[in-house]
Amino acid sequence: MKNQNMFDLLLPLSPEQLNNVKKLESTCTNIQSAWLSGYFWKVANQKSNSVSLKIDESNKNNQIITIVSASQTGNAKLLSERLYKFFNKNNKTTRLINAIDYQFKKIKNEKILILIISTQGEGEPPEEALSLYKFIMSKNAPNLNNLYYSIFGLGDTSYNLFCQAGKDFDKRFKELGARSLLNRFDSDIEYEENYYQWSQELLRSIDHNNKDYKSSSSLLEQEKKVIISKSYYTKKNPAQAVVLTNQKITGRNSKKDIHHIEIDISNIDINYEPGDALGVWYKNDTNLVRNILELLSINSSDKIKIKDNILTIFEALKNNFELTTNTKNIVKNYAILTENKFLKNIISDNSNLQSYTVQTPLIKMITDHPSKLSSEQLISLLRPLTPRLYSISSSQQEIDNEIHITVGVVKKLISGCLYLGGASSYLTQSLKPDDMIKIFIESNNNFRLPTDQNTPIIMIGAGTGIAPFRSFMQQRDNDGSKGKNWIFFGNPHFTEDFLYQLEWQRYIKKGLITNMHLAWSQDEEHKVYVQDRIRENGKEIWSWIEEGAQIYVCGNASNMAKDVEKTLLDIISENGSLNFEDACEFLNNLRLNKRYKRDIY
Ligand SMILES: Cc1cc2nc3c(=O)[nH]c(=O)nc-3n(C[C@H](O)[C@H](O)[C@H](O)COP(=O)(O)OP(=O)(O)OC[C@H]3O[C@@H](n4cnc5c(N)ncnc54)[C@H](O)[C@@H]3O)c2cc1C
Ligand SMILES: Cc1cc2nc3c(=O)[nH]c(=O)nc-3n(C[C@H](O)[C@H](O)[C@H](O)COP(=O)(O)O)c2cc1C
Repeated sequence: MKNQNMFDLLLPLSPEQLNNVKKLESTCTNIQSAWLSGYFWKVANQKSNSVSLKIDESNKNNQIITIVSASQTGNAKLLSERLYKFFNKNNKTTRLINAIDYQFKKIKNEKILILIISTQGEGEPPEEALSLYKFIMSKNAPNLNNLYYSIFGLGDTSYNLFCQAGKDFDKRFKELGARSLLNRFDSDIEYEENYYQWSQELLRSIDHNNKDYKSSSSLLEQEKKVIISKSYYTKKNPAQAVVLTNQKITGRNSKKDIHHIEIDISNIDINYEPGDALGVWYKNDTNLVRNILELLSINSSDKIKIKDNILTIFEALKNNFELTTNTKNIVKNYAILTENKFLKNIISDNSNLQSYTVQTPLIKMITDHPSKLSSEQLISLLRPLTPRLYSISSSQQEIDNEIHITVGVVKKLISGCLYLGGASSYLTQSLKPDDMIKIFIESNNNFRLPTDQNTPIIMIGAGTGIAPFRSFMQQRDNDGSKGKNWIFFGNPHFTEDFLYQLEWQRYIKKGLITNMHLAWSQDEEHKVYVQDRIRENGKEIWSWIEEGAQIYVCGNASNMAKDVEKTLLDIISENGSLNFEDACEFLNNLRLNKRYKRDIY
């Protein structure tokens, strides 16, 4: 034991690593050895400190670290809170701010800024970071010569523009003169390990010494305790609830399959507010799992170790891995493992790989190119399953012991075959009353009803985007709020797709809903969408805005939300006599004052 410690001090390599170094050394020329020594020196410097941070020594203890959390669905928020606690435990004076509340015009006064940011939409920053993003990218952004920063990007490799928001900030911060404390980390959906490594390196970088925090198990334990000790149910510690109702609410002839699902929470201590989303841990479809195993000649009772648990490969695929989303990495690794000529050709060209990945669900790739793999090889290809979020469509004050959600099945028809989304098909096709479901609340403080109950609100939603507005109306009804309520709702057909029609009619009769405008895209000769209805009512919308109305948008991020925003800008421009730039500034101010809120996906 004593010898082992001496060995660690003198040579910080394990015997296996030493062996590998010796093997490499024996194959190198003198020039190659010299190059390698320089190379490793550079790697070591990049790992510990990418720049040397010159902190005013007299002021070292008062150096404030600002952590900005830019999150849409809670992951970046969770990590920001963890980093905040971790830094505080390590005696760093730290403040944690949500991007929406960050006074970005004062960014030039910052010394150390840490940004934890996810990417949303198609390579865009999360909603709460949009104003910060616009400012930093604009010509008004200040010189940031005095700023040291680090960015942790969260994303998903199944999207084309992986971690783009973090990349954009990184590039722009550099252009503005800021210095990176540590190279940016871009993390896929399994971000835990990356986050851990980044946070340790970041702390070292700030401390500017090489204390090994990883070996300090007490610190790690403390950090873990902070996360686990939260009293409410979380993504990692979901509640088990019972399904009460699962009812299709679109008509028989509708192209959409949308379900209203009610969940009983009477035996669980769970609280939510209008605007929150429900996190759902889903299970993969049994037939899908069987097909994959059959196509790869894997026995479904093969045992496999996942973390510390031994499971059958069937159970593992059913509960622990994503099977419905494909990524470029999966295609690449499958091509290599199976040595499939067609796929190898695809992966040799990045744009081919990109379009193949987008167009080919995992099961289609395996069906078209079956092979023989071991359970371990299959698992090595897959990403861990992540829960999906659904806007809560009920108010707890109105219905007490239940949570309602409104789920649309995601489906793709490719060459005559129908491919369904993992969670949406589980929720709508397989869940029955009395089934158990694993859930948690993902709170969303950026999508709340106004605190002043007299404030008028305008709600714009298409398809399942109507869900949170049902919860808003239940809440306002329950509160007896006097504020006016205006709903814009769009879907394909009046007869098939008027979600919650009777409830809206009841609220209109009661006087709770002041205005309701509907857009049925397939009922008229020309397609009519919510943005068309908004434009038709531009003058009145402007007068509501002047009265202090808050505007809410929920639903599809790529089309609906963009078109609605464009229409709002036109209305502001026309009615406020503003040019386009000033209209953008006006809308941005509404966003900053929490009067323009979007929950888009
Ligand atoms: C904050 C938030 C609130 C949400 N609220 C609701 C809600 O109230 N009701 C609701 O139905 N959904 C809602 N969603 C979307 C929901 O979380 C899932 O993304 C959706 O159900 C698809 O998940 P899935 O597992 O079925 O599909 P996956 O298995 O993830 O996807 C299968 C395939 O379909 C593609 N795909 C996924 N979604 C879409 C899409 N919308 N259009 C086209 N292709 C797609 C994927 O890229 C993949 O190729 C919300 C999302 C967020 C982030
Ligand atoms: C609607 C939607 C769009 C997304 N778009 C992208 C994208 O373009 N690029 C990417 O890398 N990740 C994308 N993601 C993945 C998220 O960045 C990832 O899930 C991240 O962990 C979310 O962090 P957050 O919970 O802090 O928002 C998207 C996720 C959703 C729900």
